[in-house]
Amino acid sequence: MQDAKEEIKSRLAVEDVVGQYVELKRAGRNLKGHSPWGVDKTPSFMVSPEKGIWHDFSANKGGDIFTFIMEVEGISFKEALEKLAAQAGVDLTKFRGGDPAVTKRKLRAKEALELATKYYQACLVRNREVCEYVFYKRGLNRGTVGEFRIGYSPASGQALIEVLKKRGFTERELDEAGLLNRFKKDLFKHRMMVPFIDTTGNVIGFTARILDKGEPKYLNTPETLLFNKSRFIFGLHNAKESIRRSGFVVIVEGNMDVISSHQAGVKEAVATSGTAMTEQHLKALSNLTNDIRLAYDGDAAGIKATERAIMLAGDLGINLTVISDYHGAKDPDELIQKDPALWQQAVKNHIPAVDWLLQKYEENLNLREAPDKKQYSDIALKLLSYVKDEVERAAYETKVAKKLGVEVAILREKGDRLNKKLEQSTHRKYLKKPKTTIVPDHIKKLEDSLLALKLFGGITKVKIPLDTPEDDARADELELVFNQDHQGIKDPDYEKEAADLLKRYQSELNKQKIAELNQKLADLDEDSDEYENILAQIVELQNSSK
Ligand code: UTP
Ligand code: MN
Repeated sequence: MQDAKEEIKSRLAVEDVVGQYVELKRAGRNLKGHSPWGVDKTPSFMVSPEKGIWHDFSANKGGDIFTFIMEVEGISFKEALEKLAAQAGVDLTKFRGGDPAVTKRKLRAKEALELATKYYQACLVRNREVCEYVFYKRGLNRGTVGEFRIGYSPASGQALIEVLKKRGFTERELDEAGLLNRFKKDLFKHRMMVPFIDTTGNVIGFTARILDKGEPKYLNTPETLLFNKSRFIFGLHNAKESIRRSGFVVIVEGNMDVISSHQAGVKEAVATSGTAMTEQHLKALSNLTNDIRLAYDGDAAGIKATERAIMLAGDLGINLTVISDYHGAKDPDELIQKDPALWQQAVKNHIPAVDWLLQKYEENLNLREAPDKKQYSDIALKLLSYVKDEVERAAYETKVAKKLGVEVAILREKGDRLNKKLEQSTHRKYLKKPKTTIVPDHIKKLEDSLLALKLFGGITKVKIPLDTPEDDARADELELVFNQDHQGIKDPDYEKEAADLLKRYQSELNKQKIAELNQKLADLDEDSDEYENILAQIVELQNSSK
């Protein structure tokens, strides 16, 4: 990538790149302008065409064209690279260390998804039922529908496939884009379509809502070469400008909450789509701002999600707060339907997440009773163990001690005791992933049954890829399994049974392998070749087990 960087730099002048955002005037050998980040009275932003660098004296930062685009657009290095490569007319695939075949497949998937989006958008206006749902029932306006590229997938089950095949896409390409179900028909049928758009503006998948009652309420694109749900942040593409300008982000639970919020003028809203928050989500957002406001429900699930976020935030030095005043509405969307102003107000009323949780813990307890005091101190101390800053933690300890009517020293003593216990237990491993995975019971069982068939069923046609045991004790054990498996079965067809079992066994192994690879992904940098390789392996495994 270093070569690509140099190539782009040699083609783009720093004053041209910066000049798209800052009005520059010549000042001797350099150029000067006003800071794009602050309000400086005199021009404090300087560009040196000779050196290819910029410096902002009011914001006290500087760098080359890549850091400039990263800062001003609030995007990652990789995204800045892509953006500037496009401007410079540099073909990045030539520089990629990664597999060019994978890059090509990704590109095809992107093209298919872009066309699908356009097609779904065109279908929306032609279908009365979905229009009624989108515009009337959900109260979205044309601007919002356009901004989020909302569409409609026809009910036929073939509609999209036909359109895309005419445009030269193969079944395999459509499958890789996540557009087909396991019968190789349209995955999305008769649903409101909301595209997943990444921060560079590419459609990488969809979430699709059923128009009336039914299951599942939302159908999402499976993991593909492009879509990784533990990294994707819904709405960030539309929100990042506002987040950068206002300096905060609001995380809501549902995708529709994001859309409503934007329509209500709170354009800092994003959501983690159909999954719990991950470290990668939080890291990506903390690159933009450290004022992160959670707008989760006040129910048990919302409390759990907030606790989880606090654990993740501890290491990242992030300031998590909670927005909770919904005036009785179930979620931001419902509140906005009532009155957008109430939501705009709610966003300003955010309290530290730890305070919010402590309040929630207290709600179900009677702190005059000793057993309740114990319980409260148990959960409160566990929570406080995630508060990294000593001063902040001390302040909370004082608060909690006061609530309990005990000396802070006693509370600390208990905290130390619990922490010691935690260190020894597996608790802290919550966030760390185990390095080796054990073979789960159900896979072991399948293995035993297969081996038993191989040893005692006289199988000749089906090849069972398992070594027969050498020791007698194990053989005896398998004979028991064999007898158990076929107890009371008349005329058993061992060959057929072996074939079926083998299929199940292989699919379970696949699942296991996918889970392991997904765990590996979580620790890897998204830009690395290894990440790409593993992703390709996952997709391969998913396809082979369909
Ligand atoms: P909710 O059921 O709270 O969504 O699920 P919502 O936004 O309030 O839905 P509406 O208002 O009834 O349309 C929150 C999120 O969980 C995921 C989706 O990402 C959704 O936005 N989810 C929910 C699914 O992925 N599948 C489902 O079937 C349901
Ligand atoms: Mn809702």
